[in-house]
Amino acid sequence: MLGGSKMYLDTANIEEIKEAFSLGILKGVTTNPSILLKEGKSRAKVVKEILENSEGTVFVQAIGESYDDIYRDCQEIMNLDSNRVALKIPACFNGIKVIKQSKTDNPNTIILATAIFSVEQALLCALAGSDFVAPYVNRMENNNINPYEVITKIRKIFDDRNLSTKILAASFKNTNQLVDILFAGAHTATISCDVLVNMIDKQLAEASIKIFNKDWEKLQNQI
Ligand code: G3P
Repeated sequence: MLGGSKMYLDTANIEEIKEAFSLGILKGVTTNPSILLKEGKSRAKVVKEILENSEGTVFVQAIGESYDDIYRDCQEIMNLDSNRVALKIPACFNGIKVIKQSKTDNPNTIILATAIFSVEQALLCALAGSDFVAPYVNRMENNNINPYEVITKIRKIFDDRNLSTKILAASFKNTNQLVDILFAGAHTATISCDVLVNMIDKQLAEASIKIFNKDWEKLQNQI
């Protein structure tokens, strides 16, 4: 699925995580401070619950503005569970320095550079050793930036230069955006439970399936 790369769920809500993971097609969970705020629990508690109710990688976002603060928070995050927890690091100047240092400390730490709004940011994060970059699709559209052009350019630059960094697009408000970023060259995406449900809940399919089920019942009454 999605070029061999499954999608991630962008939530910290345990009920949503349970429901979405029951599909068996998700690769992990992504979170950020705004997502954690909705749950109103400590980060450590929520991450523990997510780990218990999901599979795969759980991305947790580092907080801070200075290099030291971001770096310290990355260490705190990795202490939550070094096997399944991965770092989400904002793609600002100090964040990029922390990406480089964290990869130097431990090349096995998985890093997603987040809050990407430009090709240039994505390139710097890739050069620093980021495993993934997260272009913010809906937020770009809201600011008159074409996310599909940005993603196409990022993909071409990564491919032309043999950079192994993958594009994990984020920030979606509808399923068309998801289809279009995959067409533009994103490797994978992280989506909300609402977007996931909207990918499935197609009225025409529902109507056809209802008729099939009714016709099956009619047939049973005939034979
Ligand atoms: O992972 C980043 C993403 O959650 C941002 O999404 O919907 O708040 O723009 P949104």
